[in-house]
Amino acid sequence: MTFSPKVWLEQAPPFRRRLLAWYDLHKRDLPWRETQDPYRIWLSEIMLQQTRVAAVIGHYQRFLQRFPTVEKLASAREASVLAAWSGLGYYRRARMLHAAAKKVGKEYGGKFPRTAAGLRELPGIGRYTSAAIASIAFGEPAAVVDGNVERVVQRLSGVPMVGESVWQAAETLLDSKCPGDFNQAMMELGATICTPRQPACLMCPVADFCVTRGELPLAEKAKRQHKRVVHYLLHREDDSVLLVQRGKEESLMPGMWELPEIQNPNGVHEELFTVRHSITVTDYRVRVLRGPVPEEIGGQRVAAVRLAKLPLTGLSRKILRKAEIL
Ligand code: ADE
Repeated sequence: MTFSPKVWLEQAPPFRRRLLAWYDLHKRDLPWRETQDPYRIWLSEIMLQQTRVAAVIGHYQRFLQRFPTVEKLASAREASVLAAWSGLGYYRRARMLHAAAKKVGKEYGGKFPRTAAGLRELPGIGRYTSAAIASIAFGEPAAVVDGNVERVVQRLSGVPMVGESVWQAAETLLDSKCPGDFNQAMMELGATICTPRQPACLMCPVADFCVTRGELPLAEKAKRQHKRVVHYLLHREDDSVLLVQRGKEESLMPGMWELPEIQNPNGVHEELFTVRHSITVTDYRVRVLRGPVPEEIGGQRVAAVRLAKLPLTGLSRKILRKAEIL
């Protein structure tokens, strides 16, 4: 499968089936896979942040014997929490864990927030951990990207993507019906088959979908993301927005609707906000402008209520959401 989001979308369903069937049969028996308890899943993800699975298992079980619930952890003294963490290193994780347990107790009545966005309000929980907990414990379709997933996505696509592009690619592949298993399957594949050195491609359940089948050449890996600045016009009038339709013959996103791009802004526009957007190896800084409509644009006014049903490009959807029009 060569990397183009359209091809990925088409291949995603059989890819998901193969990966999940493999995971069902071959997943490692790990203690945090026997539970749906967000406390236990959270603890495992924090421990796994900087530590390998084999080193975590014993500590995880002992920690849970000492602090079987989030309430018990919240009411413990910090010294006892650090003692139970002993041997895992990176003690900042333990302090954050303790602070988060207290916050769950005091501010959330002992219940974990059920969404990735909610979980990110807790100390020590960033984009990866929030998506991992939300998908595994609550079934939220949020993709995770760790080092293993990044490598899997790079090899599958043959594109040395980094940063935001990898997250977008992982979102495209994600099985929204089984997001927790899917995320764990991607990590498992990276940890056990699609390893950094000498990947076991002959054993790989998704080799048919993989462009690379082997290690990416070093020169490819070292390539940096390109950076570009682009400008889009957000022209609102009454309850409508000016959009243009991409040509049917375009190779990327043919026929989709988007905000008009302004090729050479000449200072007459005012900047409303910027968004970041990554496509394969390019990181775009997208400046969203307000002001006069250049003559060459043409375009069509579309009522805001119709936008949700229109095939919009991902970038335009992102901008319209940020402007709270969608
Ligand atoms: N690495 C971090 N969390 C993981 C999980 N739940 N499964 C596999 N690998 C992981």
